[in-house]
Amino acid sequence: MASKPVIEVCDIVTRFGAQTVHDGVSFTVERGTLVGMIGASGTGKSVLLREMIGLQRPTAGQVRLLGTEMWSAPADELAAVRRRFGMMFQDGALFSSLTVAQNIAVPLTEHTALDPTTITALVALRLHQAGLPPEAGAKMPSELSGGMRKRAALARAIALEPEILFLDEPTSGLDPITARAFDRLVRSLVDDLGLTVFLVTHDLDTLLGSVDRLIALAQSKVLADGPVRQVMASEDAWLREYFSARFTASPSPGRAQDGPPPLGGPPGSSRAQRPTIQGVQDHGS
Ligand SMILES: Nc1ncnc2c1ncn2[C@@H]1O[C@H](COP(=O)(O)OP(=O)(O)OP(=O)(O)O)[C@@H](O)[C@H]1O
Ligand SMILES: [Mg+2]
Repeated sequence: MASKPVIEVCDIVTRFGAQTVHDGVSFTVERGTLVGMIGASGTGKSVLLREMIGLQRPTAGQVRLLGTEMWSAPADELAAVRRRFGMMFQDGALFSSLTVAQNIAVPLTEHTALDPTTITALVALRLHQAGLPPEAGAKMPSELSGGMRKRAALARAIALEPEILFLDEPTSGLDPITARAFDRLVRSLVDDLGLTVFLVTHDLDTLLGSVDRLIALAQSKVLADGPVRQVMASEDAWLREYFSARFTASPSPGRAQDGPPPLGGPPGSSRAQRPTIQGVQDHGS
């Protein structure tokens, strides 16, 4: 028997005054998959993420994470489920007055009764898993590069060993090498640790190289939902424009292809290699 989906988004409606952002958005995500969401700027991807993790109440609809109704469960059940997912916000959202290590320790001190020595050891482990050197722990977020800040945010998001990880545009603003290393790191969390990852991205290389399934949000609804190459091959006018705009915009020199790979072709390059934490560190930002 198939196991219950770990994420269930049920008929979400979101309105801000006269503006309807979501008008009946529904989908489910199975455990151990890496799902990507695309949509034009302002279509409500970040709002949907906040609604999914219980931070922003939708106008109507329900979200179930690991079986818990995020918009009707009792407080103790919500507190328990909050320990089981991690979120990396679009801007990283690190606490600027805390060091990187203190930032990573926040969920551990908030949600566990672990002693300080164990927390210090866990923080070191998370830094390592996120591909950061040990000395990064003592730095303030303002002293980090953009890529390192994203890794620090990821380290904090995985602090409690979550079952689900939500990422909002994790590779935006990163150089291509650092971005691909970040993709491999996220992929390894799915393949090696069994996490379920739901990420919002505009990064076509992330979509082609790491994502199992793609959901496109447009006109307040789920426009397409399926394997990446199937969604990319859609005849829908918006999807065709979205992907062609990305393939024709400033192709990088030496790229193997300037258009989408053929359907059923070999998987993306980073997917073909088994990701390792070591491999990620080789490309540390
Ligand atoms: N608290 C709020 N009050 C009013 N309107 C809001 C609020 N939060 C978001 N919006 C509006 O909802 C829409 C969706 O915003 P959202 O940040 O989810 O877009 P997005 O799809 O994540 O865009 P991007 O790709 O640029 O990050 C926008 O028009 C935004 O102005
Ligand atoms: Mg956004």
